[in-house]
Amino acid sequence: MRQVAKMVAKSRIWVFAGGFHRIVFLSVCLSVCLEAALAQGSDAGKVYLDQKELEVKWIAGNASLNDANCGSLDGCKAANCSRVRCYPVSGGAPLQCAPAENQFYGLCTSGGCKDQIQVDYSRSYVNLPAPASTKLSAEVARDICLQRMLDSTFQTLSVPSNYSEFFFGSTSGAFRQFPGREQNETQCTSYEPRLRPWYLNGVSVSKDVKILVDVARSMEQPVTVDYNRPPSSTYLDVAKDITLGLLNAFSPQDYVEVISFDSVTVSSLGGSFLVNSSYDYFNPSGHSELAALVTDVNNLVASSVPAALSNLNGAILKAASSFNQLKSLKVIIVLSNGLFVVNSTTFPSIALQSNKAKLMVYKLPTNDDGGDTFLLKTSFQKDICSVQGSFKSLDALATANPLYSMRSYFTYLARIQLSAVGGNVTWSNTYPSVSQNQTSLSPTYPAFGSDGVLIGVVGSDVVIDKLDEPLRTLVLQDFSRRNRGTLQAPANISMTCDYQTTPANVVCPTSTPPSSSAICPRNDTSSTLAERTCCGTCGPSSGSSGKSGLAAGAIAGISIAAVVPVVTAVCTICAIRWWRRRRPGQEDQGDDPVFPGDD
Ligand SMILES: *[C@@H]1O[C@H](CO)[C@@H](O)[C@H](O)[C@H]1NC(C)=O
Ligand SMILES: *[C@@H]1O[C@H](CO)[C@@H](O)[C@H](O)[C@H]1NC(C)=O
Ligand SMILES: *[C@@H]1O[C@H](CO)[C@@H](O)[C@H](O)[C@H]1NC(C)=O
Ligand SMILES: *[C@@H]1O[C@H](CO)[C@@H](O)[C@H](O)[C@H]1NC(C)=O
Ligand SMILES: *[C@@H]1O[C@H](CO)[C@@H](O)[C@H](O)[C@H]1NC(C)=O
Ligand SMILES: *[C@@H]1O[C@H](CO)[C@@H](O)[C@H](O)[C@H]1NC(C)=O
Ligand SMILES: *[C@@H]1O[C@H](CO)[C@@H](O)[C@H](O)[C@H]1NC(C)=O
Ligand SMILES: *[C@@H]1O[C@H](CO)[C@@H](O)[C@H](O)[C@H]1NC(C)=O
Ligand SMILES: *[C@@H]1O[C@H](CO)[C@@H](O)[C@H](O)[C@H]1NC(C)=O
Ligand SMILES: *[C@@H]1O[C@H](CO)[C@@H](O)[C@H](O)[C@H]1NC(C)=O
Repeated sequence: MRQVAKMVAKSRIWVFAGGFHRIVFLSVCLSVCLEAALAQGSDAGKVYLDQKELEVKWIAGNASLNDANCGSLDGCKAANCSRVRCYPVSGGAPLQCAPAENQFYGLCTSGGCKDQIQVDYSRSYVNLPAPASTKLSAEVARDICLQRMLDSTFQTLSVPSNYSEFFFGSTSGAFRQFPGREQNETQCTSYEPRLRPWYLNGVSVSKDVKILVDVARSMEQPVTVDYNRPPSSTYLDVAKDITLGLLNAFSPQDYVEVISFDSVTVSSLGGSFLVNSSYDYFNPSGHSELAALVTDVNNLVASSVPAALSNLNGAILKAASSFNQLKSLKVIIVLSNGLFVVNSTTFPSIALQSNKAKLMVYKLPTNDDGGDTFLLKTSFQKDICSVQGSFKSLDALATANPLYSMRSYFTYLARIQLSAVGGNVTWSNTYPSVSQNQTSLSPTYPAFGSDGVLIGVVGSDVVIDKLDEPLRTLVLQDFSRRNRGTLQAPANISMTCDYQTTPANVVCPTSTPPSSSAICPRNDTSSTLAERTCCGTCGPSSGSSGKSGLAAGAIAGISIAAVVPVVTAVCTICAIRWWRRRRPGQEDQGDDPVFPGDD
């Protein structure tokens, strides 16, 4: 740029001293050169963001491949365990110091140490979903074992000299983050990837959801042993757990209403609630604007009406008739033990279709359904499929992990989101980062299993304020063209009937199910968090390799490679002609000014 500026300065003097034809010639040359130079510079924002998008798509693709690679479960033994962020182990890989703010630890405070932290570029670390028990549920152990293979992907993409985190939040709640970074115990048990803004923005357009909870007498029965719950737990308790879990997983500007129904009554718990647009994600009590609804759900009791089949059709009709958000995706979720009246005559298909509402019925497995687990002896399948709805029999044990048990709902949301952005990456809204005291943005991309079910969401940290100028400005300019959460629902939504008629397939049936050895046991009980995470002298780490995986370099290289020869050629021709014209002894010599010494 300096050379260009100099050329501009010099030629201006020359132009004023010269003839008109030269002015025309030079201005053409200069405008081509300058515009090319500027265009190339402003591409930097696009190149930077395109690369961030490519990375999360790449990771999501690899996560899908890993999910299908059941064979890798067999190798998930102690020697291959995954490190949990708050279970320190002795004799791990050497850590290296990275430029990351660590004030949430409040530990490394001396001098520049507060902006430095020890991280592990040899592997990702995981976080367990609350309550972070070391006795892993099957789905959490499986996700941890299958996705440990992401480490090679992370290593390929990451640039240790530019600290940035990659992460994969799975639908089971297991979270994997690279480079590995320790946390204190509080953060380990309070971090829930599935409720983070990047995860939620990545899997859902604005939505209006009605949750219908069956509260008939039969819901008061204790659950079967399959649920592995305390003896007094009832089906209603399970339905409440799932409802409360879902209430946490809404995004700003969503609407949610909970409706209870039995054989005679259909009642709304306080009407439709708008999820607050300014939500404090660090507030452990969740959405305060939903507090009254949460209380009402907690207070739900089974009906006093003597045992009778519930009026599901009446409840669906009430829900479908009360949608009033034109631009939102409409979903009706039903939680029931399946003991409801099935009657095609009263099934409210018109109310559902006119609202383009997706009906998703979840049946809690029970011993009281006369063996008709999938209600195939009734006309229910015909009713559901007439409105392209879905029906699932929940996995009793997995209801202990409510958001996981509802993954077909999140799959539907993720598919709609993907269609709204034409298969592109969705950028989160800005949100306060947990890993650093910074406002973050994340490119997000969903990953699906081979059966089409959502397995998780990939994200990475982009801290725009940490970028150097002019890149920061260029990134912000280009950013306005990108897809962001929260989007409106697409105008036409594709729905297909999804009715479960057989028991769910066992995932990875021929592989050894992962045992507790999936995670490394805590065996370092003497060192402190400060000793493990602070950078000591804060000097640059000797371990820093400065390698640049695929990274900006490669992609920038491609686009620059295409532009540079053209610009170079045009500018060279301009420069040569200009140089020739000003040289003494040439035909135009008399007009050429003599420049005082080039520096
Ligand atoms: C990860 O994805 C990249 C790009 O799609 C692909 O080249 C690579 O083979 C994948 N790696 C694995 C381990 O699946
Ligand atoms: C670790 O995992 C790899 C890949 O699955 C496997 O090849 C290897 O045998 C495992 N090592 C042990 C000790 O289980
Ligand atoms: C862990 O982090 C939390 C949140 O920053 C902090 O309040 C707490 O004191 C820390 N606990 C320990 C043992 O360092
Ligand atoms: C919305 O959230 C903000 C910030 O947490 C809070 O100040 C405000 O009172 C909330 N509004 C409602 C209606 O709860
Ligand atoms: C279905 O509902 C209609 C209208 O209420 C009623 O006439 C009919 O008897 C019901 N059918 C069954 C099988 O209950
Ligand atoms: C998806 O990305 C492509 C390429 O950047 C762009 O042309 C297209 O408009 C995007 N689609 C949507 C719906 O944003
Ligand atoms: C985070 O940064 C803000 C603004 O820079 C500052 O006011 C605040 O004290 C910081 N918080 C912590 C926990 O360091
Ligand atoms: C690191 O980030 C800076 C911008 O903050 C960029 O100029 C540089 O190219 C990046 N390095 C690599 C290796 O990506
Ligand atoms: C949505 O509408 C457009 C234009 O009418 C059509 O091309 C597209 O196939 C529709 N998409 C779906 C999912 O129905
Ligand atoms: C602690 O656990 C790690 C990982 O499981 C292992 O590599 C290390 O050898 C263990 N250390 C001791 C002292 O048992």
